[in-house]
Amino acid sequence: MRYRTLGRTGLRVSEVGMGTLEAFDVPPGRQEDHCRLLVDVALARGCNFFDTAPAYGSSERVLGLALAGRRAGAILATKVRETTAPAARASIERSFEHLRTEALDLLQVHNMAGWREVLPVLEEYREKGRVRFLGLTYYERESEPEVLAAMRTGRFDAVQVPCWLGETSCRERVLPLAGELGLGVIAMRPIARAWAALARRRRRSSPWAYLRYALSRAGRGGFGPIGQKEARALEAQGAGTLAQALIKYVLADPRVSAVIPATGRPERVAENAAAGEGDPLPPEVIRELERLIG
Ligand SMILES: NC(=O)c1ccc[n+]([C@@H]2O[C@H](COP(=O)([O-])OP(=O)(O)OC[C@H]3O[C@@H](n4cnc5c(N)ncnc54)[C@H](OP(=O)(O)O)[C@@H]3O)[C@@H](O)[C@H]2O)c1
Repeated sequence: MRYRTLGRTGLRVSEVGMGTLEAFDVPPGRQEDHCRLLVDVALARGCNFFDTAPAYGSSERVLGLALAGRRAGAILATKVRETTAPAARASIERSFEHLRTEALDLLQVHNMAGWREVLPVLEEYREKGRVRFLGLTYYERESEPEVLAAMRTGRFDAVQVPCWLGETSCRERVLPLAGELGLGVIAMRPIARAWAALARRRRRSSPWAYLRYALSRAGRGGFGPIGQKEARALEAQGAGTLAQALIKYVLADPRVSAVIPATGRPERVAENAAAGEGDPLPPEVIRELERLIG
């Protein structure tokens, strides 16, 4: 696994971290044990950055349980999605409890919710030493002007951005300012959105061919929604699987500090982590991927 510096925080984060949306929102019992296994694989593969949120159902609690006894090896990021100071305080206190930790490495304003109101509360926790660094996250392009305004306050250390193959807005509008201010950049949803866009494009170009192809590969992972010819070309160029190519594509931007895919399958945790090893994508593969999403 390669590591990059998360902007001015100075934290050394694995290029491939772990998201917990959906995958860690499971009931008590055997599925919690399964999530511990996901974390086992992630840690064994060198992933050290874990992202969760109170808004992800039981994910915080399940991640806290999975990391019990090995908190020191993890850089732990969660969020707050409240619009008043008292509600933000209550949410942060619950996060400490669920995550079984006295201190958080990164606390992010979730989707910019009430950031002006809650930021002083986040800063109080930082002053008390219970939060090391502050960040913000956003999901919609429409939020970008507000994100830029928040970044310009100089009070945030990192930004979590919607950045995947086919999504260019954050690269043009948000990453330049992040670079100028020295903010760490965490890229969310590297696989899901690009995968769906590739599938839509293929369905449009040839619905029957797509159906035959999808059925022939169902459950086999690999290159999923792209054509066999295209998959062979990518494989020959050393892109690995499509998921790996999509993760490496995001990592090809040096302004990105870490990418945080989420999966409920241990073998995919390993597959995704391996995208943080080996050679970066050659320029011709980057061009091929951009042509595919076209
Ligand atoms: N506003 C925000 O702050 C915000 C919003 C969205 C996401 N996030 C963060 O970003 C993280 C990642 O986002 P995400 O979970 O939505 O998207 P993602 O990681 O791009 O995609 C997750 C989906 O891709 C599948 N997948 C994962 N690895 C795969 C592989 N190797 N091959 C094929 N399919 C694979 C998963 O299915 P399986 O489980 O079946 O493998 C799941 O359906 C979240 O967990 C969260 O931490 C933050």
